[in-house]
Amino acid sequence: MSDRIIFFDTTLRDGEQVPGCQLNTIEKIEVARQLEQLGVDVIEAGFPVSSPGDFNSVVEISKAVSNPIICALTRAVEADIDAAADALQYARLKRIHTGIGTSDEHIRYKFNSTREEILERAVAAVKYAASKRCEVEFYAEDAGRTDNEYLARVAEAAIKAGATIINIPDTTGYCLPDEFGTKIKYLMEHVDGLANGKAILSTHCHNDLGMATANTMSGILNGARQVEVTINGVGERAGNTSLEEIAMILKCHHNLPYECGINTQRITAASRLVSSLMSMPVQFNKAIVGRNAFAHSSGIHQDGVLKNTSTYEIIDPKDVGLEEANIVLTARSGRAALKHRLNALGVKVDAIAMNRIYEAFLKLADKKKELTDDDILMLAGADLSAKKHVRLEALEVTTGKGVVPDATIRLSVDGEMFDASSTGNGPLDASIKALKKIIKRTMTLKEMTIQALSKGSDDACKVHMQVENDNHLYYGFGYYGFGSDTDIVTASVEAYIDCINKFRPENDGQDAI
Ligand code: KIV
Ligand code: ZN
Repeated sequence: MSDRIIFFDTTLRDGEQVPGCQLNTIEKIEVARQLEQLGVDVIEAGFPVSSPGDFNSVVEISKAVSNPIICALTRAVEADIDAAADALQYARLKRIHTGIGTSDEHIRYKFNSTREEILERAVAAVKYAASKRCEVEFYAEDAGRTDNEYLARVAEAAIKAGATIINIPDTTGYCLPDEFGTKIKYLMEHVDGLANGKAILSTHCHNDLGMATANTMSGILNGARQVEVTINGVGERAGNTSLEEIAMILKCHHNLPYECGINTQRITAASRLVSSLMSMPVQFNKAIVGRNAFAHSSGIHQDGVLKNTSTYEIIDPKDVGLEEANIVLTARSGRAALKHRLNALGVKVDAIAMNRIYEAFLKLADKKKELTDDDILMLAGADLSAKKHVRLEALEVTTGKGVVPDATIRLSVDGEMFDASSTGNGPLDASIKALKKIIKRTMTLKEMTIQALSKGSDDACKVHMQVENDNHLYYGFGYYGFGSDTDIVTASVEAYIDCINKFRPENDGQDAI
């Protein structure tokens, strides 16, 4: 059996079910990009049938990231599976996650049904999902409280029907670590298709009794090869198993034979992003990502750490990206330093792209004294996604108190230059009106999020936007774009143009202008 542990991140599905922590599509795309950088194997992007917003998020995330498998949740219902398959159509690697409750509590009270009927519904759902040409994961909801012998029958039937991953959720967070491990071991020994690697077991533990991480580790030690986790352990009630805890356990315990694809140095950045977008502060003493996780305050500990960090530190803070995030590059940094940083951040670029990124790096470094890892990733990301038919060549804006905002814009459209000017009720309005004199489409700005990358008035800001192109919509939704610059209006116009670049014929059959 392989010793690779697959990381299935459900921050954007189970994690996002926390009341008050809902993310819009733009924010979900940003988290998905961060998860891709982090090296997760699977992103559960949503539950498409539950709402048009969730459906749209799965569509957009499928387009925005390409390395991880994109997974969509369903109930054991054909309409759910149809919606999931539709939402996944742009994903390079697709997975449908379907399932049904298998504990007696669920069978009796939720479904008013019988074990045999539930087994039949499970098989039918897996067969239907498999007919959609997607990888199929089956979940036995409340498996933690499901009788092991019945659970084994359901799991075996699901594998025969086409599932290659069997998820064993401890939905209520009830199990003891030993009990959960014994369950996984029982299944490994009694379900045809697990020992020979035709299918694998997945853990999905909730933290109601504070045992999610312990249960997940017990699952791994007994044969599970996928873990379902969230950043910062966010999730319903007391949350889900936290990704960073499992990743760092696997890294610190050198005697364990397991490997995984998590780039642990991206953990801090991912944690901060999720915390800020969900407006959910991380508990100060939270393992790995809490503010105090590496702070030694008692004199005895400080003395020990100063003599040798191994006295009280089992984790090097650099391993979770704590110091790395503070390393800065400036306008004086050379190409080699930038390349080194990109490599350390896991971004591989060829010589031509490197030249372009370095040029953009110098421009940004002229405006901003110090460039952080986030800036570098933003520049690389912008370059990698550059498929620009419409480009912003110049933008001049006059604005201020008591002044009518006025903008002059120069765009290149497939290499040809166009100029236009307009006034507006603000600098962005003037710029967009000028742009619309060149790009003559009916476009409506639907949603816009502005975010500073880190801190300081000289910081670059990121703008995410949704623009509706009236003639052609993806499932009734607009197109998403991203822009970044130290100038907030330029960043916004870049984001608008990024949306327009997605209107091209391969998407909607029209020319740009
Ligand atoms: O906790 C749970 O059982 C779930 C399933 C839907 C996978 O989230
Ligand atoms: Zn769950």
